[in-house]
Amino acid sequence: LLQQGLKQVEESVNLDSINDVRVKMLGKKGPITEVLRGMRDLSSEERPKVGQFANEVRDQLTAAIDEQRLKIESAKLNEQLKKEAIDVTLPGNSVAQGQPHVIQQIIDQLVDLFVGMGYVVAEGGEVEEDRYNFEMLNLPKDHPARDMQDTFYVTPEILMRTQTSPMQARTLETHDFSKGPLKMVSPGKVYRRDTDDTTHSHQFHQVEGLVIGKHITMADLKGTLEIVAQELFGDELEVRLRPSYFPFTEPSVEADITCFNCHGKGCSICKSTGWIEVLGAGMTHPNVLKMAGVDPEEYGGFAFGLGPDRFAMLKYGVTDIRDFYQNDVRFLTQFDQKG
Ligand code: PHE
Repeated sequence: LLQQGLKQVEESVNLDSINDVRVKMLGKKGPITEVLRGMRDLSSEERPKVGQFANEVRDQLTAAIDEQRLKIESAKLNEQLKKEAIDVTLPGNSVAQGQPHVIQQIIDQLVDLFVGMGYVVAEGGEVEEDRYNFEMLNLPKDHPARDMQDTFYVTPEILMRTQTSPMQARTLETHDFSKGPLKMVSPGKVYRRDTDDTTHSHQFHQVEGLVIGKHITMADLKGTLEIVAQELFGDELEVRLRPSYFPFTEPSVEADITCFNCHGKGCSICKSTGWIEVLGAGMTHPNVLKMAGVDPEEYGGFAFGLGPDRFAMLKYGVTDIRDFYQNDVRFLTQFDQKG
């Protein structure tokens, strides 16, 4: 019986068959259990001998089964390890890293520039109150200039901001002038109810700037804009101011830079004028200061609003603004700064 059992154990090559052998030989209905059960019919001399023998057979079989099971398990593990082996000398898969969106790159560059000049950054919400987007900026409800900016209204009093200028009113309202002048930039997304085409997008970006303090003049505005233009487009560029209109600045200007492409000689980018219009700006209107609780007799300054989308189009020769918003990686990876 022992030899037969050991042979069966040896022949078992997987966990199922070894388990079968265990049940067959050592289980409740197996021969060993049967022998042990039959012991009560034996004489008292035979009982210990038969018992000892049966126990020995059981122990040997148990040991053999355990050993065989370990063998099978370790063989299985070895095979699995061999199959799953990793060749560490193979070249790895490169991971695509991505990069900031080209518009974000321009925003980051401008914000860095202004932070370096001591400005604070104030990002507002894209959902804004009519009060801050228009009223506090000298645009009462019936003001015709509201038509300049077709607005997505959420409720009669809540809208998607059409400009970053509401951050002028918000920062003016909370600034503590006893601690010094207010110098802030506010980058972010704005929304207008335009039909999208090559030059219009219902969502685009602005970077707002506001400087309010004592004795701030239009020369400061022009100097600041020159620094912006030179940072983005090149050292030798000039800035020219033309009269314009915004309800929250007086006087208001539109700023042109010398065409960075033809350097003032005239080309298709500047439509042969030698100048490119880049932003709106002006000296903060006294009404805006008054409404925010700031005394226009004591304080004054300038504001500007520029469009990073337009800057990116000019800088990189992009002819369709919608390219910025379609998330086509073939387009976007052209602006990978890592080269
Ligand atoms: N908010 C104006 C616009 O969207 C731009 C601007 C900002 C003009 C600040 C003057 C001062 O057109």
